[in-house]
Amino acid sequence: MTQPRPLLLVLLFVLGGCATPTELDIAKQAHEVMRASFKETGQATLDRLNQDLAQSACSIPPSTSVNKEIAATIEKENMASIRYPADGKLLGDWKSGERIAQSGVGKQFSDDPKNASGGNCYACHQMSKQEISFGTIGPSLLGFGKLRGNSEAIQRYTYGKIWNAQAYSACSNMPRFGHNGILTEAQIKDLTALLLDPASPVNQ
Ligand code: HEC
Repeated sequence: MTQPRPLLLVLLFVLGGCATPTELDIAKQAHEVMRASFKETGQATLDRLNQDLAQSACSIPPSTSVNKEIAATIEKENMASIRYPADGKLLGDWKSGERIAQSGVGKQFSDDPKNASGGNCYACHQMSKQEISFGTIGPSLLGFGKLRGNSEAIQRYTYGKIWNAQAYSACSNMPRFGHNGILTEAQIKDLTALLLDPASPVNQ
């Protein structure tokens, strides 16, 4: 016979007396742990833990549980945040767009906030035939402009999607590049050109 283990018995008693925590409780606890353990360094400040409606509603698993009304509210709020360029031009330089798409620098505590950030698009999307290293969290964007054309509506959708993906898909996993100040207006124009210009590697 093994010796009785008092600690184990106490634990069983305590745990047995508690209600099973819900996913919401666990999410709240995780938030508290992060708030208590993260240290602000450089531009990586604790206000990054403050969630807006999209982040909080979409963080409760499963994100598909966000109902139609909440999804519509999230998309409306995010749509209202999109700032289109004052000069009305949505297409920049696709060559610069390709460099931005390839670059994953920015927003970390070790990055100088004065330097431009990258878009890290290849981390989630296939975008050209030449680049064989890419992630697949997002759909392949190969041939995006060839398939969609280059109408004003498509230019506005592409620019707006990069500015704030959640304006079009409430719980999108894509970063909100313009909305969160990751990329500038000029950089988003360059990426819009990368996706839509017939000469860019995306459309070969
Ligand atoms: C962390 C992953 C991630 C990163 C990084 C990312 N995306 Fe996405 N993107 C997604 C996902 C997931 C979708 C599909 C869901 C949606 O529509 O939001 C998507 C959708 C899109 C779409 C819509 C595709 C369509 O057929 O309408 C475009 C355009 C796009 N991304 C462009 C970009 C560009 C440009 C960048 C870089 C600046 C980028 N994405 C970076 C995850 C990402």
